Amino acid sequence: MNDNLHQLRCFGCGARISGAEAQPDFRCVECGELFEVEYPGWGQRGGSDRPNPGALKWLWRERRSSSEALDHSGVWRFRELLPILDSFGNAVTLFEGNTPLYHLPRAAKALGIDQLYAKHQGMNPTGSFKDTGMTAAMSVAKERGFEWVACASTGNTSAAMAAYAARAGLRCLVLIPDGKIAWGKLSQAMDYGALTCQLKADFDGCLTLLTQIVKEAPIYLLNSVNPYRLEGQKTPAFEIAEAFDWNVPDHLIVPGGNLGNSSALGKGFRELYELGLVARMPRISVIQAAGANPLVRSLQENHGSSLEPVEAHTRATAIRIGNPASWRKAARIIQDTDGWCLDVTEAEIAIAKAELGAEGLGCEPASAVTLAGLKKLRAEGRIASGETVVLVLTGHTLKDADYTIDFHRGTLLKEEETVGVEAEIASLQRNAQAVEATPAAVLAALKGSVG
Ligand code: F0G
Repeated sequence: MNDNLHQLRCFGCGARISGAEAQPDFRCVECGELFEVEYPGWGQRGGSDRPNPGALKWLWRERRSSSEALDHSGVWRFRELLPILDSFGNAVTLFEGNTPLYHLPRAAKALGIDQLYAKHQGMNPTGSFKDTGMTAAMSVAKERGFEWVACASTGNTSAAMAAYAARAGLRCLVLIPDGKIAWGKLSQAMDYGALTCQLKADFDGCLTLLTQIVKEAPIYLLNSVNPYRLEGQKTPAFEIAEAFDWNVPDHLIVPGGNLGNSSALGKGFRELYELGLVARMPRISVIQAAGANPLVRSLQENHGSSLEPVEAHTRATAIRIGNPASWRKAARIIQDTDGWCLDVTEAEIAIAKAELGAEGLGCEPASAVTLAGLKKLRAEGRIASGETVVLVLTGHTLKDADYTIDFHRGTLLKEEETVGVEAEIASLQRNAQAVEATPAAVLAALKGSVG
């Protein structure tokens, strides 16, 4: 049986091509825009390839207790909604997805919101949301017979790509900005056997260079310009809808870097809605770091009709991106769902990350922009207390342990960045203390901390 029911549609001019006709850089030859995967058979109600909502909900639940390997993946469990392979037997999986949805009682109370949750995508096999996209796109690379795959990365994509390439038996090339990625991520790429090149360029420069390279060598590009990445990354939307018994939350808040993830989650919810699995779409908001906020500016200045790249600066290195590839897709999803796009400062990110940590949910700084953004939206009265809100936490806290240690030691932020929030920061800092190795000294430290 052929499991492949897809074609590609240009997001700019609407041109349609088969998967095999895509250019190595995944740009449209007519207009230069990116493609998205579509399934023509889903179009008409009653069409033979149109999935049946009731049957799917039942099947997906049954698969949770299945012993078949593919059903253990939180991506391929939903394979009826990503028929992108000639055979699902070619899927390369590390049993990604099926990540936890945690309630955040303390943050909810502090913000006066009843229902606040975190979908923790950092709990994936390589510690970030990239795994859900990588299983999909790596499977396509393998099925199409590529020997080499490549990505430019701020760290997480490279970690995920290297792991999945190793599982698939493919070689991989990683281009990263020299000195600008967290050690945890770099160590993963090395461990999984990638050919890692540190370039004197930022992420945007690395991606531009790689785009030229894949036109000259038979290397499969695995950045999120690759539309199959987004097919995998849309599946957390299915997990979230399923967790709420197919009643979608009111509001989803996502960090924005290269803007593939917000686009993918939006596509996931849109497909659920169009196929009749859910009755409405959530509002989808995207939060950027203030020093890397090209989409915020674009939406403010020209309603998302054009985007001026910025020189990006933020300690949340995962989203240190000034020229995001998928900005048009993200702008569309924000506008279609009446979401917001705003930015948060370095101090707001650090505080939000420590607050999540204090709830027992460590995450990367890039993930913490979601809580920082929610606090702003709530303060501006844009979120009502009765709303159900889900924050998408994108990466594991151990990816960037240096950031966390610097925060608790008080060496992360400059004085001018903390003006007005010094006390808030101090109340969250838990630096390690040097204590003499005697019971009395440890008991004294204990007394000091409760007293
Ligand atoms: N959060 C984390 C932890 C990330 O690693 C990234 C992107 C984002 C958020 C932003 O997601 O790009 O889809 O808008 N990291 C990429 C990388 C760019 O190379 O690992 P986005």
